[in-house]
Amino acid sequence: MLKKCLRDQWSVDDLDWSLTPRRLSRDDEISIVQYFTDMASIERLAKALFVEQAKRAHDPLLKEILESFIEDEERHAVVAERLAKHYDRHQYREYETNPHLLRFAPCFIAAIQQVSAEVANAYITTGEILLDVALLRSLSDFVDDAMCDGAMEFIDRDESRHIAVDFYMLEYYCSDQYRQHLTEAPRKTLIARGKQLKTFVSMLYHSGPFARDVFFGPMDMCDPSGKRMLQAFKRIQLVAAKPSVARRPITRFFRVIQVLFNHPILGRLFGRLLARVIGLDPRVLPELYTQAEERRASSMSFDDFAKEILAIKFASS
Ligand SMILES: [Fe+2]
Ligand SMILES: [Fe+2]
Repeated sequence: MLKKCLRDQWSVDDLDWSLTPRRLSRDDEISIVQYFTDMASIERLAKALFVEQAKRAHDPLLKEILESFIEDEERHAVVAERLAKHYDRHQYREYETNPHLLRFAPCFIAAIQQVSAEVANAYITTGEILLDVALLRSLSDFVDDAMCDGAMEFIDRDESRHIAVDFYMLEYYCSDQYRQHLTEAPRKTLIARGKQLKTFVSMLYHSGPFARDVFFGPMDMCDPSGKRMLQAFKRIQLVAAKPSVARRPITRFFRVIQVLFNHPILGRLFGRLLARVIGLDPRVLPELYTQAEERRASSMSFDDFAKEILAIKFASS
């Protein structure tokens, strides 16, 4: 993996920035420029996550791999900024990063610094599946020109490595070896736990408007059928249903909310509130897989899972 990370580095100037964007309607131009403006900040959030992961990595090889991911995410942010400028042909207005994203970012960074590396990894794995399988692919189809396709092709190459390592880490956090490590680690004080919980709740509180504006909203615009969005969430649900993942506390927390949401009475009474608590759109909370799919997923290795996600991503292009 490290060899691949070093070999496949690229520069923003490897892309052909002289290409002319296809003709876009006023509304489409505004949406696209706004989206790339926001994407730059999302990529920097991914970067912040890898900074945390790299700080906590004990294995020097893994540390070096994660440090290469930090560089990748910064490069993606710069590409997104350049794409925003590239498509801003008519300068219809000034573009600013979405205010909900700006509010969410510091809470998110504070949360990942305080929560365990396991929870940070759960967030990055989920985020990268959503960004990769659903959002960037749909956005690229929506923009539909050579400039954007070229940029996404380079970004995709990096993201494929990220997903492979996300799943490798997920496997470790679900292993007996990690559970053993947890039992030997010194216990946190009550004050430290309280602080952790407060930061986590604050992050959850800001995650709803953030996800609505920078994920669900753009997805509705780029992929009105919702096909890619549901495909991505189905994969996330299937990973979460794997027995070794399902027993982890962070998975159990989201699972409890989902079960309550799908309860015939409680769901009807509190469904919207429950979805708001975890910051997700109610459309992605029903169980999106069949029992046969669950059985199959349970018997798959983490590596096969990562490969299948990447296959779906490329098949849907
Ligand atoms: Fe990225
Ligand atoms: Fe990434």
